[in-house]
Amino acid sequence: MFEEADIEALWRIRSDPAVAEWMTSLTGELAPFAELICEPVRMASTLVVELDGRIIGDLMFRTEDPWAQAEVKEQAAGKQAELGWCFAPEVQGNGYATESVAELIRIAFAEVGLHRVTANCFTANAPSWRIMERVGMRREAHSIKDALHRDHGWCDGFVYALLAEEWRATVG
Ligand SMILES: CC(C)(COP(=O)(O)OP(=O)(O)OC[C@H]1O[C@@H](n2cnc3c(N)ncnc32)[C@H](O)[C@@H]1OP(=O)(O)O)[C@@H](O)C(=O)NCCC(=O)NCCS
Repeated sequence: MFEEADIEALWRIRSDPAVAEWMTSLTGELAPFAELICEPVRMASTLVVELDGRIIGDLMFRTEDPWAQAEVKEQAAGKQAELGWCFAPEVQGNGYATESVAELIRIAFAEVGLHRVTANCFTANAPSWRIMERVGMRREAHSIKDALHRDHGWCDGFVYALLAEEWRATVG
């Protein structure tokens, strides 16, 4: 789990322009970044990835309530999670993100007991959707110019998902 001692390492990674290009917001100075990432919901949904004791990236695991009819709303509550990821440029291209996301998915289904996981990205962010494909997620939607990028204007997006039953079928 992410803790306050990890703030600076994450800030350095996310401040890299190649990483920031695809993230929801620019990091800015360390102090406002620290305040943002320490918000209780963000803190509880962020994990860090270490390689030989050094932080090389982070993962988002944000549980949410899938849509459900009113009578069965409670059964669906908390049964889905949105996943996200961000890795330092110098460690990219080694499969660390793929390995981490695959493990996160195992935890989601085998330990937390979720029904479905999802992930979103700009279609132009090929390294991100290639992770989704490598870990067995299905492309569910290709939205057209639905998201405004700070530099690239209106962009297309992909939504990927994986169900617990699909994951179980692949792990045997
Ligand atoms: C998205 C992001 C994590 C992808 O990083 P990555 O290094 O490509 O991902 P991995 O660590 O899984 O490495 C996979 C790459 O290493 C290669 N690789 C080398 N050895 C490997 C191994 N043992 N296992 C798997 N892949 C390996 C793969 O072939 C792949 O390269 P390819 O996509 O050119 O085929 C990274 O680009 C990033 O942090 N970007 C900025 C933040 C961001 O965009 N976040 C997502 C927002 S939606």
